[in-house]
Amino acid sequence: MYYIANWKMFGDKKSLNSLNKVIKLSKINKNNKFKLIYCPPYTLLDLFYKKLKNTSIEVGAQNCHENEIYGAYTGSINSKMIKNVGAKYVIIGHSENRSDGESDILINKKIKSSIKNGLKIIFCIGETLSQRKKKLTNKILTNQITKGLSNVKKLSNVLFAYEPIWSIGTGVIPNKDDLEKDIIFIKNKLRNNFKLKNAKVLYGGSVNPKNIAILKKINIIDGFLVGGASQDSKKFIDIVKKTVI
Ligand code: 13P
Repeated sequence: MYYIANWKMFGDKKSLNSLNKVIKLSKINKNNKFKLIYCPPYTLLDLFYKKLKNTSIEVGAQNCHENEIYGAYTGSINSKMIKNVGAKYVIIGHSENRSDGESDILINKKIKSSIKNGLKIIFCIGETLSQRKKKLTNKILTNQITKGLSNVKKLSNVLFAYEPIWSIGTGVIPNKDDLEKDIIFIKNKLRNNFKLKNAKVLYGGSVNPKNIAILKKINIIDGFLVGGASQDSKKFIDIVKKTVI
């Protein structure tokens, strides 16, 4: 099971202290039952890597520029730079960036360049509430997957995070049957269209220690991408403990 902490635009140097308890937790991970990954803002990547480097916890970035080589792009950071500070993962296609104008074509470029630079991808997909109400979820997911993965090599380096947009930061999670169907749909699509037999599909959107008991029942979920609750180490640890320990 994957537990990925997406800290979004939160955190400062003091936040490093909150990792101590999570490091303790990582030491009782006997049979590698769980994998912990922290995605702090760019400003903390190097510090997080140094703090976590002798543990099993890995580090990832939350986005990157699409160019695989350095260039004159003021304010941008590419996958080569992310890899250089020891991060192994990058989140791509998060709805908070899609809503800022990130297109499927741009997402596809980011995925390709990040894989070339040796990063693993946490590829986010998900529909809006109005798309869901119009029963467009499968169509949207198909579109995002097909365009995002177009001509991508080494698909085994991609993890998938299904994050319905209406669930992010709202406290609302999909009901169990619907979520199960959506995850099955994604896995089938990846198996049938991309020959990905064992794709890892995580769920993200308002995951917290209270609703984790419901989410835990869906045993085809391969892990969780946690936003708000991951900034509180106690809550993050609780989520892990209530599912795998
Ligand atoms: P919340 O857990 O705060 O709803 O955020 C989910 C998310 O966007 C993770 O990428």
